[in-house]
Amino acid sequence: MLVRLIYASRSSGPITDEVIEAVLDKSRNSNPDAGITGVLCVCQGGVFMQVLEGGREEVNLLYGKVLRDARHTHVTLLEYAELTERRFSSWRMGRVDVNKLNAGIILKYSEKPQLDPFQIPGGVALGFLEELMNTASIVG
Ligand SMILES: Cc1cc2nc3c(=O)[nH]c(=O)nc-3n(C[C@H](O)[C@H](O)[C@H](O)COP(=O)(O)O)c2cc1C
Repeated sequence: MLVRLIYASRSSGPITDEVIEAVLDKSRNSNPDAGITGVLCVCQGGVFMQVLEGGREEVNLLYGKVLRDARHTHVTLLEYAELTERRFSSWRMGRVDVNKLNAGIILKYSEKPQLDPFQIPGGVALGFLEELMNTASIVG
């Protein structure tokens, strides 16, 4: 059975290219075997938002590891849903740098030009991630 999980978290330190590459390398190595797909957003103010899709057991197992990862704190569940189909099946773990997005995309979903994932409903987080997919903003 397929599920989708979206969470937000605060980076423990500055989000450097090294931090992002280490997370993405691990994700892109491990996620295919686990059948997990998704997208990692690097948001303004040292905030991550990630969507994970896959089997319920695999997604829950990975989320447990993510919760214990010292590279971030305040891991907050935004959405958890059972699926009939994936939305982000093309990405072992896609990447989006929200700092580099057109402000119009952010303002569509946010009161301010800075998107704060901790302040938006889960459904809005999903809409934003789908918009990123539809505007080819996700780097594979
Ligand atoms: C923001 C963030 C996103 C992560 N995403 C993934 C992921 O998609 N897949 C993954 O395997 N690990 C991911 N990790 C790493 C996990 O937290 C954890 O370190 C890793 O899964 C441990 O793998 P191991 O059990 O093989 O040692 C992420 C870590 C952070 C900080």
